Amino acid sequence: MTSPLRIGAVGLGRLGRFHAETVAERLPDTQLAAVCSVMPDELASAKDQFPNATGYTDYSEMLQKESLDAIVLSSPSSLHCSQLLQATEAGLHVFTEKPLGITIEECQQVVQQISAYPDRTVMIGFMRRYDPSYLEVKARLDAGEIGRPILFRSYSVDPETSIDSALAYLPHSAGQFLDMAVHDIDLARWLLQSEPRMITAAGGCYAHPEFAEHDDGDNVAAFMQFENDTMAFLLAGRTAPHGYQVETEIIGTKATLRVGMTPQRNHVEILDGHGVRKLCSQGFLERFEQAYIAELEAFVRCIREKRPAEVTVHDGLRATEIAMAAQQAFHEI
Ligand code: NAI
Repeated sequence: MTSPLRIGAVGLGRLGRFHAETVAERLPDTQLAAVCSVMPDELASAKDQFPNATGYTDYSEMLQKESLDAIVLSSPSSLHCSQLLQATEAGLHVFTEKPLGITIEECQQVVQQISAYPDRTVMIGFMRRYDPSYLEVKARLDAGEIGRPILFRSYSVDPETSIDSALAYLPHSAGQFLDMAVHDIDLARWLLQSEPRMITAAGGCYAHPEFAEHDDGDNVAAFMQFENDTMAFLLAGRTAPHGYQVETEIIGTKATLRVGMTPQRNHVEILDGHGVRKLCSQGFLERFEQAYIAELEAFVRCIREKRPAEVTVHDGLRATEIAMAAQQAFHEI
């Protein structure tokens, strides 16, 4: 009989709250021992929902006062690297949301410094690797079912209905490639088992000029060629009129695999005077709920089995490097 893992959840915002709930309510043998947020109202409502977790506004104080085994980081992206290093130095295992960091230098520093702690599990939250549909695509690709991959095409477009939170996040966002397309970049590396050797990019402000004030676009795209010659086309945007459009297609010499062409919420179809309609999912939690739970289950399993993480800091570094190269190409057009 092992004692429950004592976990601290950092960040209680749009995603952090869900991760905290997963630790407290969905994972076996884990205990949500502490939560940290700089927003007093978030801490107050967390106190009601997680009465056994101590609340902190100061991350360092939480590390100092709590006897934790692991940390789940859902804080703003610019804090991931420093908070991760602080936790590993304190002897903790760390799960961090994507991206690992917002500069290549800080990601490289993490990769270098945590090599001194081989006994720590440090995992990056690229949750699509735990989504049942993408897992099936991976199995079919690895079995050679599509032959030689010719084109990888992947879109991540948030619904227009969430534009206000995207605009509010703009000052903290490191750009669409790092904030959104980083998922598609990780998918391409994971599925193709190859690295890009050529990257070019384009984009613009098609609906929201505010993005230009931050040298960004409301929709951006990248075209790449991988070392195994597969071409890749990625689109990241904020203006889907219908819902949360995350779709991927891989065209091969023998078959094509597609995931999520229509972001349908469920199996309901409405046939009425307008024609035939399907309801669309409206956000990341609705589409990837199962994957967010499965990635934390995997994190805990790796800690228990004293295994390295399945999604590593090297994956985090590569995704940031590729996203930054795309962003630079976008700035140069
Ligand atoms: P949010 O803005 O909704 O929440 C941020 C949270 O961090 C707040 O609770 C805030 O109090 C806390 N925070 C800020 N400064 C802090 C500090 N110094 N110490 C401790 N806590 C601090 O942000 P959101 O949307 O939840 O994103 C958080 C992270 O999760 C980002 O890195 C983002 O890229 C990632 N994310 C990943 C998604 C995925 O699909 N894997 C989806 C959404 C977000």
